Amino acid sequence: AGTLGAQAAASGRYFGTAVAAGKLGDSTYSTILDREFNMITPENEMKWDTIEPSRGSFNFGPADQIVNHAQAHGQRMRGHTLVWHSQLPGWVSGINDPNTLRSVMDNHITTEMTHYKGKIYAWDVVNEAFADGSTQHRSSVFQNVLGNGFIEEAFRTARTADPNAKLCYNDYNIENWTDAKTQGVYAMVKDFKARGVPIDCVGFQSHFGSGGPPASFQTTLSNFAALGVDVQLTELDIAQAPATAYSNTVKACVNISRCAGITVWGIRDSDSWRSGENPLLFDGGGNKKPAYDAVLSALGSG
Ligand code: G3I
Repeated sequence: AGTLGAQAAASGRYFGTAVAAGKLGDSTYSTILDREFNMITPENEMKWDTIEPSRGSFNFGPADQIVNHAQAHGQRMRGHTLVWHSQLPGWVSGINDPNTLRSVMDNHITTEMTHYKGKIYAWDVVNEAFADGSTQHRSSVFQNVLGNGFIEEAFRTARTADPNAKLCYNDYNIENWTDAKTQGVYAMVKDFKARGVPIDCVGFQSHFGSGGPPASFQTTLSNFAALGVDVQLTELDIAQAPATAYSNTVKACVNISRCAGITVWGIRDSDSWRSGENPLLFDGGGNKKPAYDAVLSALGSG
């Protein structure tokens, strides 16, 4: 198959990208999007500061544009993200009463998931809750006011809101098996599975330096999959986009049967949040880079 999406589909996987609603009118952008990708993650439009800028007042317009585009073009959606310490409005981060914050968090999850019910393949229910270099959660209003149980609370609420969506925990710097942060997330997923807390998938963001993934990446994916969750590469980009680094990353996924798919974090280098690092598969003019061919061929090895 001649496109990323079709080649991934040949082994039952998807190939996705982050999309910005404001770029859908750019025909170079949307032509590549609709030719190559069969999964979409909104880059910013489903985050709390956009969706619920003030308490109880919901703004679904920008995300709806993306979801409507996806439905019109046969693309599935990853929802990103319901509970995150960043891009969080001040009215939430200022709450210090646990009962208030619990009800605000649960209402946000329920309202957003209900709006998109039936239209989302997988949700990043909780994003980046663990601290770098540690097995513990990072400081956030959710952690500090609700305690360790906030993640479980969020997943249980999410399952009730849309029982058919896959529920993911998503984070960065959890790709190297021996890192403390990886071990902390692994222990959480193992505990959730043991106690019946609903979780279906773990998202490995995969923002890599030019060396690509750590040597243990496939081991990490395999160990998480063995807990009974899907694994997904959710925000892949690699500084300077070396073809070998991309190829190694894709192979780590296709070698694991429960690796459900790969999402790159943008289409053209000019769309990337990593300004000046040229970390994506298409150049600023929309031309395929060597990394594109490496990815297409590595997808075929699955
Ligand atoms: O929309 C406003 C615009 O009105 C304003 O004029 C402009 C001035 O700064 O800012 C615009 O908002 C920016 C937004 O992107 C949309 O372009 C924010 O400042 C900027 O902070 C925001 O950056 C996003 C970042 O998350 C925020 O944390 C990036 O686009 C997005 O790629 C990035 O994505 C994250 C994932 O969600 C989670 N994992 C890490 C990843 C990379 O940081």
